[in-house]
Amino acid sequence: VNDTHTTGPVAIVGAGGMGTALAQALHRGGVRVSAVASRDAERARALAARVPGARVVPLGEAGRSAPVVLLTVSDNGIEAACESVNATAGTVVAHASGSRDVSALASAAARGARVGAFHPLAAIVRSRALGSMTPDECVAAFRGAAFSIEGDREVRAQLFPLALAVGGHPFAIEARDKPLYHLGASMLAAFSAGLAHLAWEQWRAAGAPPHVASAGVSHLLRTVADNIGRTASPAAALTGPAVRGDADGVRRQAEVIRALPREAQALYRVHADHSLAIALQAGRLDEETARRLRAVLHDAFGAGPNAA
Ligand SMILES: NC(=O)c1ccc[n+]([C@@H]2O[C@H](COP(=O)([O-])OP(=O)(O)OC[C@H]3O[C@@H](n4cnc5c(N)ncnc54)[C@H](OP(=O)(O)O)[C@@H]3O)[C@@H](O)[C@H]2O)c1
Repeated sequence: VNDTHTTGPVAIVGAGGMGTALAQALHRGGVRVSAVASRDAERARALAARVPGARVVPLGEAGRSAPVVLLTVSDNGIEAACESVNATAGTVVAHASGSRDVSALASAAARGARVGAFHPLAAIVRSRALGSMTPDECVAAFRGAAFSIEGDREVRAQLFPLALAVGGHPFAIEARDKPLYHLGASMLAAFSAGLAHLAWEQWRAAGAPPHVASAGVSHLLRTVADNIGRTASPAAALTGPAVRGDADGVRRQAEVIRALPREAQALYRVHADHSLAIALQAGRLDEETARRLRAVLHDAFGAGPNAA
């Protein structure tokens, strides 16, 4: 347990998946989490019990319980939570949403609070299937994560150190850039899990027990993620027959894929086209090879999504 707090104190409002994980990671990173509030008193107590030094406060007092108040409530609950915490003038109130901007905190701004957004690019899942995260897992979830931070200079000066304390990489973002930025993050997190499921089903059909298939898919994704982390751009980490310029390999895959459901075939086609375009742009393929590969895909799948 780390009791040498160098930053904070911070109050966490919203004892859901993000609030619970972030509070523990902040504490372990040396940030004092002094207060916790949530609509559900039981959940607030459960969170406070995991964070030494944190006390449960009523929602209506959370806005004056610490100089920085992080609203880790669901995106659609930000306005209501912000109203209910009664933020005092000078307090920094920030939400954790990547898709909403600081205008959701207008009620706090009207009371003289400084408003911001603190969005960790990490996927936290709270579900019965996964169980609750251990403190070490909470720490690992944020270490190395990018954090987009919205707010004026003074707000950023308060929020950047929180991201740094958990081993994150903060960067400033403008409200107008958030919708597309968040779409990219959401597509990556959601669709990579979907692709993993597709592979998992094939591995299960090939005889791998469920836990082996899950561990194996997770490991394979991690090696891809590690490769991406070592390069200046993900294009350098693309693998597979298309980016190798291997037309026979693509032809063989196209034959096999007919056994899969239509959506899986469509996914293959879209991803193959996309990978070709990126590899070409990154100079990993020349025009002539790309043309040959596109012809193989065209023979196998028809005109393709763009021509449909
Ligand atoms: N999960 C992720 O991977 C992730 C990643 C980046 C950012 N975020 C952001 O983090 C925030 C929280 O997401 P989450 O995944 O933690 O959601 P979650 O697990 O559904 O938790 C949301 C919590 O918000 C609380 N809440 C909702 N309305 C409230 C209100 N009016 N007043 C007080 N509390 C209220 C609920 O508390 P009670 O249980 O007490 O009712 C609930 O536990 C969102 O803005 C989300 O976009 C999440």
